[in-house]
Amino acid sequence: MFLGASAGSVALAGAAHAASKAGASKGGAPFPKDFAWGVATAAYQVEGAAAEDGKGPSVWDVFSKKKGAIFDGNTADVACDHYHLYKQDIALMKALGVKSYRFSVSWPRVLPDGVGASNPKGLDFYSRLLDELHKNGIEPFCTIFHWDYPQALYKKGGWLNRDSAEWFAEYTTLLADKFSDRVQIWATQNEPQCFIGLGLLDGVNAPGDKLKYSEYLTAAHNAMRAHAKAVQVLRARAKDAKATKVGYVVAAQIAQPLTDKAEDVDAARAAIFAVGRHEWNNSWWMDPVLLGKYPEDGVAVAGKDMPKFKPTDLDEMKQPLDYLGLNIYKADNYKRGVDGKPEQVPVPPGYPRAGSDWEPITPGCMYWGPRFFFDRYKLPLSITENGLATRDQVCLDGKIHDPQRIDYMHRYLLELARAIKDGVPVTGYYAWSLLDNFEWADGYKQRFGLVYVDFQNQKRVPKDSFDWYKKVIASGGRSLQEKVAFPVTQVTPL
Ligand code: NOJ
Repeated sequence: MFLGASAGSVALAGAAHAASKAGASKGGAPFPKDFAWGVATAAYQVEGAAAEDGKGPSVWDVFSKKKGAIFDGNTADVACDHYHLYKQDIALMKALGVKSYRFSVSWPRVLPDGVGASNPKGLDFYSRLLDELHKNGIEPFCTIFHWDYPQALYKKGGWLNRDSAEWFAEYTTLLADKFSDRVQIWATQNEPQCFIGLGLLDGVNAPGDKLKYSEYLTAAHNAMRAHAKAVQVLRARAKDAKATKVGYVVAAQIAQPLTDKAEDVDAARAAIFAVGRHEWNNSWWMDPVLLGKYPEDGVAVAGKDMPKFKPTDLDEMKQPLDYLGLNIYKADNYKRGVDGKPEQVPVPPGYPRAGSDWEPITPGCMYWGPRFFFDRYKLPLSITENGLATRDQVCLDGKIHDPQRIDYMHRYLLELARAIKDGVPVTGYYAWSLLDNFEWADGYKQRFGLVYVDFQNQKRVPKDSFDWYKKVIASGGRSLQEKVAFPVTQVTPL
């Protein structure tokens, strides 16, 4: 049976296990003192102002206008209007008590054509944003690229063009020169699996292409080369090179053992690094960047589609990093099969799920993921995203009660605490997301925010989970040991 199923009332994979172990520890959760409790967003999902102040179009601006591309024909032309309301949003972060804010820069807002002339008004927006964050004692964490690729560069071949790595280096140079006086934590790219896999192979994300497999792998190769060039740029140009932390953020695909038995743990460990399909896979996207080689099983699967590249590429791709960013939402369960190979075990019928159907609630991913990744790559980890989409609504009392999100975060954070306790170095946790926002092809259907956004009038209302997370942050994670009584009705004064 699933971990935890036998221990109590709730059959959530990994959950009861966490509660029993973490709950047993006296003195509270083992989060380090300087732990970066944070929230995350991405430029295209919150900013709006899609064609304002000289911003150039991104592939998402074009894709979202295509009939049938986005749920209900939604667009991010306005999104959360964060471009204009950023001060209000930073006030919310301050009220929440976060130590750090992970945001991304819109490449075509600062470089409308992707390269060449920069846009002073676009740069000014991020400059004001950074100043406001510092004024409020919030550490900025800048993701250089979170999917909104300049349309002008896409027209020149995008990631298929070998020059794309140099374009990315030019863009990074601009950010380093303008902002490294105020930003010390950087991520080069967010979830390359998605902007290459979903965007260029499956065609469900912008730009909506369905490339040949060989082309898709070439685009992936160039994206990883671009990452490495950006790391080199930051090392060379950041104002305070010593204090600068550079990382890479992946859509971590977690395999967790079905039971605590060593044979199932081994099965999950083998599964998490095996390459079946290249898109939804860890090693293909991390081994070149962190170990300087493509995984052998992946090369075998690619066969004749394997990209041809310069022999020096792999050495260049492997640039020393300060941390690995993991976006963790869910796990698949594995056990040792009768043939000795890892066997995936689907969740039982009716198993708890997020509003977004791809997310079964599997708290154990927050233990096993960090543990397996640390064992293989030996880098400090940051949980750069974690969160739950629910169908939130304003209740008759004017509040947004989201017990599912609270329960989800509670279980996941207990598992993270357990990983830290077992020696995995984790530097921070960024809840996805501060605000309900534009969830890509799902438009505004999925609400991931700790703050509810009424997209008709841009009114923000903190949800119950906002107050709950506030308490977690204020107590340095100790409140995770307390029982939760639902609903949480305390209202945060702004
Ligand atoms: C991963 C992506 O980085 C983010 O943009 C997205 O909204 C969340 N996961 C939720 O799907």
